[in-house]
Amino acid sequence: MVHQMNNNIKESILKHDRMVPRYTSYPTAPHFKSGATQDWYRKELEKIPARSPISLYVHVPFCSQLCWFCGCHTRVTSRYSAVGDYTDWLLQELSMLVPILAPKRLEVRYLHFGGGSPTMLRPSDFRRIVSRLRKIGDFTRDDLGVSVEIDPRAASADKLSAYQKCGVNRASLGVQDFNQQVMNAVNRSQDYDTCKRATDMCRAHGINNVNIDLMYGLPYQTRDSIRKTAEQALTLEPQRISLFGYAHVPWMKKHMRLIQEDALPSVEDRLDLFEDAAEVFENAGYVPIGIDHFCKESDNLVTALRSNCLSRNFQGYTDDNCPYLLAVGASGISRLGDVYVQNYVHLPPYRDRVLSGQFPFDKYCEMTESDKIRARVIEKMMCNLSVNPLGEAAGMGIPDHDFSGVYESIMPLVRDGLAQISSDGTVHALARQSARLICASFDQYLPHSSEARHVTSS
Ligand SMILES: C[S@@+](CC[C@H](N)C(=O)[O-])C[C@H]1O[C@@H](n2cnc3c(N)ncnc32)[C@H](O)[C@@H]1O
Ligand code: SF4
Repeated sequence: MVHQMNNNIKESILKHDRMVPRYTSYPTAPHFKSGATQDWYRKELEKIPARSPISLYVHVPFCSQLCWFCGCHTRVTSRYSAVGDYTDWLLQELSMLVPILAPKRLEVRYLHFGGGSPTMLRPSDFRRIVSRLRKIGDFTRDDLGVSVEIDPRAASADKLSAYQKCGVNRASLGVQDFNQQVMNAVNRSQDYDTCKRATDMCRAHGINNVNIDLMYGLPYQTRDSIRKTAEQALTLEPQRISLFGYAHVPWMKKHMRLIQEDALPSVEDRLDLFEDAAEVFENAGYVPIGIDHFCKESDNLVTALRSNCLSRNFQGYTDDNCPYLLAVGASGISRLGDVYVQNYVHLPPYRDRVLSGQFPFDKYCEMTESDKIRARVIEKMMCNLSVNPLGEAAGMGIPDHDFSGVYESIMPLVRDGLAQISSDGTVHALARQSARLICASFDQYLPHSSEARHVTSS
């Protein structure tokens, strides 16, 4: 259903462009509330059934240099003691979880280290964290996935060797762009050779699934420069490529003010940049996944897409459909069945809670029936670029859910060629860029005015 972008579609996207979330969850994190008690959280953990599959996420909020485009929860440090202290707090948080979860003999399906830059951890600290994590559940599944986000500048043989020993089988490298004018403009000193060295090192240590993150919408990117970056990226033979649209939110992330705004591509140019890079990847045989991923035919995400099992969680697209995702570390968001729980984002309250023996969570969200249906519909739209809302609701045992207002709000997109509604009510995104706009129609929390500034743009 998704067509190569023609001028009419482009015009329509420009007409409807507004800031909408990326929907890595629904409700989205800004709508989580405060006020849950320690007891409540303990009970939620206790509800996880014995022997259930579970996925784990560890957040490492440190980097050695701040990229001015960065929208992640991280801070710059040159002192290892900050990272070392944080490791101790993480271990302490895990120690609180082990007595509740270990007796359940949970089957770990995925373990992901994200950040910030997990490569900030010394190998000894990485190993300490993994051995504590191993106490949470069973790590022996054949399809266990262990992945780490790698800052290519920080990759080293001793770290890769520790990852290999800890069972890491996928690495995501933050490449962003290879053009030096672009990289200088975002304060990231990194070149092609550094990225090549890092991918070679991963493979030399048996980590053959190498993903790379690229970005479009960065200052000074041109159609020529992004094509060149995309072609160079292919020489690294990545398994997956993420092509993220730079979300410029200087009112939320003050350091983004350092980016020269007049060097940023216009909304129209961003569309061209995305399409140009996408064309390079698709011509090379990569399969487009969702709104911003491209994968080799052999990749798990392609299998998941084709068997209608592709999922989306806080880490993006995944073939992980565990109902339980437990996140540890500052800012980590867990999904435990129908409940979201987010840890404190800032280090002092995170540290203080952990050191006083409390679970370090701040916000939570108990999904209502309507949230659950809409979360399912939004996830399907983000993954498959089409969804039958009534069918999904019926599949969840709620056939009479009222979507009437939603269809009405999708109609302007239909009229402008960005969406189509089939006779059975299935909604199709006719361009990758319209999927998020369609999802926004299902979002009951989204302010329908300029108040929506806390969310991210196309
Ligand atoms: C959590 S970061 C970790 C990657 C690692 N620290 C690195 O940069 O090498 C994951 C990815 O998010 C993307 N990213 C960061 N800030 C972004 C923003 N403001 N908008 C869109 N994508 C962003 C980048 O592509 C980055 O590689
Ligand atoms: S993009 Fe990665 S390396 Fe750059 S500041 Fe953000 S988390 Fe750190």
